[in-house]
Amino acid sequence: MRPSSRLEKIPPYLFAELERKIAEKRAAGIDVISLGIGDPDTPTYPAIVAAGQAAVADPATHQYPSNRGRQDFREAVAAFYERRFGVVLDPETEVMPAIGAKECIFNLNLAFLDPGDVALASDPGYPVYTGGPLLVGAEPVLMPLEPELGFAPDLDRLTPEVLERARLMFFNYPNNPTGAVVPDGFFERVVELAQGNDLLAVHDNAYSETTYDGYVAPSFLATPGAKEVGVEVFSWSKGYNMTGWRCAAIVGNADAIAQFWRLKSNIDSGLFEAVQLAGIAALRPEVDADVRAMNAVYARRRDLVCDALAQAGVNVTKPKGTIYIWAPIPDGFANSAAYCEHVLEQAAVVISPGGAYGRSGEGFFRISLTTPDDRLIEAVERLRSL
Ligand SMILES: Cc1ncc(COP(=O)(O)O)c(C=O)c1O
Repeated sequence: MRPSSRLEKIPPYLFAELERKIAEKRAAGIDVISLGIGDPDTPTYPAIVAAGQAAVADPATHQYPSNRGRQDFREAVAAFYERRFGVVLDPETEVMPAIGAKECIFNLNLAFLDPGDVALASDPGYPVYTGGPLLVGAEPVLMPLEPELGFAPDLDRLTPEVLERARLMFFNYPNNPTGAVVPDGFFERVVELAQGNDLLAVHDNAYSETTYDGYVAPSFLATPGAKEVGVEVFSWSKGYNMTGWRCAAIVGNADAIAQFWRLKSNIDSGLFEAVQLAGIAALRPEVDADVRAMNAVYARRRDLVCDALAQAGVNVTKPKGTIYIWAPIPDGFANSAAYCEHVLEQAAVVISPGGAYGRSGEGFFRISLTTPDDRLIEAVERLRSL
């Protein structure tokens, strides 16, 4: 079957490719440890599961949901945003559910880009920031994250020609894959840029609840003027161990959300209402303690990995957020993919090549902390012995 030329333009999705390799090795009896995908290894918190169970048992949730989302879901998101971020949202116009942040980010491309338009994409960054624009026939333009700017892009380097064509800008803090948190003043600069160039700023807020050492991640929407030019995509996946539930929300600019709604009503039939009800339960203050306990586990794993890497002579900065360690590959390898291939073949450990997150990720690899401690220790030992 001949795929569309749009599909031909994008490489196979990194983790789909890795899953295939892991399955092959496991079938051959090899004990593979995966530090690849960032998929929490512990269950969704009990209060959320209980709410989900009750909701699934209620026939009222069994029919088509509306794309607009349940009123109580939108109100719960608005209440959470006010309590957690100090951001006031109108649940009628400024909140809508999405079937995961990935769906939301992809569909924003479909809603806002025409062929010839540009989407500005953090580099390295979540692959959908580049795959999305390509799949809708537009052009992703990479914005390299500069380590000396605290892993922010240098917005002054965007040319007038690119800014003229730019309709969307994707950025994300706490950041996957670098683990960086937002540098002071960056969100303000994004608002200025978006105001001056008629582009929609899209903050991917997938990791705001996963932070360490007392750091509390802000919402982009708390920046003055942000709601006039931008939206934020909030995901339940990482902070609440809910990757499988596919629960997210788009919040912020009402016009942008109206267009997103218009698009989605032609594409999907909304988020299962039982998932919305579980999502509401997750945002209650009582669940904050579960989130804190989970973050303590990740912080311990982070220290364990960073200390072991330091002992092996690999210098890494301990991240204040996300579930990732971002580290330079050792000398002697042509690129990050070659190093990760070597680690998989020689140590049966899966790590992600930095180059898969964009050109600026080349020379680095990413370790995910979503593996139980004993397996993580074993994996780090295997890496060290290489
Ligand atoms: C930066 C970033 N955005 C979005 C996602 C996807 O989130 P969701 O599970 O809500 O689709 C991920 C998942 O790894 C991510 O790292």
